[in-house]
Amino acid sequence: MLITMKAILELAEVKNIAIGAFNITSLEGIQAVLEASEELNQPVILQFAPVHEAIIPMKVIGPIMLMMAERASVPVAVHLDHGDDLSILKKALDMGFTSVMYDGSALTFEENAANTRIAVEMAGTYAASVEAEIGAMGRQEFSSIGEGEEGEAMEGCYTDPEQAERFVKTTGIDALACSFGTVHGLYITEPKLDFDRISQIKNRIGLPIVMHGGSGVSDQDFRKCINNGVRKINYYTYLAKAGGMHVKEKAMKSEGYVYYHDVTLWGIEAMKKDVLHTIRVFSNLE
Ligand code: 13P
Repeated sequence: MLITMKAILELAEVKNIAIGAFNITSLEGIQAVLEASEELNQPVILQFAPVHEAIIPMKVIGPIMLMMAERASVPVAVHLDHGDDLSILKKALDMGFTSVMYDGSALTFEENAANTRIAVEMAGTYAASVEAEIGAMGRQEFSSIGEGEEGEAMEGCYTDPEQAERFVKTTGIDALACSFGTVHGLYITEPKLDFDRISQIKNRIGLPIVMHGGSGVSDQDFRKCINNGVRKINYYTYLAKAGGMHVKEKAMKSEGYVYYHDVTLWGIEAMKKDVLHTIRVFSNLE
């Protein structure tokens, strides 16, 4: 069933777990994520990022995400990830997305807060939820388009707890994306996360914290982040890698022709396996 991100994150808060928010770039991605969450009976977030528009446009995949979310046996939120332009947020809301992220992290605090307030007001008329971000996560999102930057160079951009509190008070958002050591895409060195910063921010804002750049974080570090207040974890690169590498292996082992329908089935199989493991960790099932 289709619900808002706010409602899904309230469920996560009660259970002290995090909800996986998986970026969608294909029908097979939706099938893999929903089959895994239904098998584990756990809520999930399907999200679309405008940076993937060239792979599949939002106007094509958005309605499919919504239709499949409505038919799912578990709660599903359909979310716009990294909308850095209010007109993109409006398009997603008009389509029926139950949640949007306004990403003004490249702007000044004041500009980001002012635009986020507009986003909150706009989403409110659709009864949709809003995520926003302060601090920077590494601008080059998603590995197939550009690899992430190294964590250590980013330390100066980590979210400041005092600023986070001011930002939440002035905007009225439902969840805050924070920077504490994760980056989008593949890590060049092992990520070193600032767990203490997560609890400091959580204590000040009392809202769900969103981790971006979930790929490459160890299961142990995920658990620590969740215990400190992370409730939504954005995850894509490793999902895409799992599907792609399995397809590569199968294709290389195949004799004769490879049919495209085989490729889609191999992709779903491998992505589902990856999502099953990820959700088990986020939901404390292993
Ligand atoms: P990864 O691709 O690093 O998992 O990050 C996804 C993300 O944060 C989407 O916003």
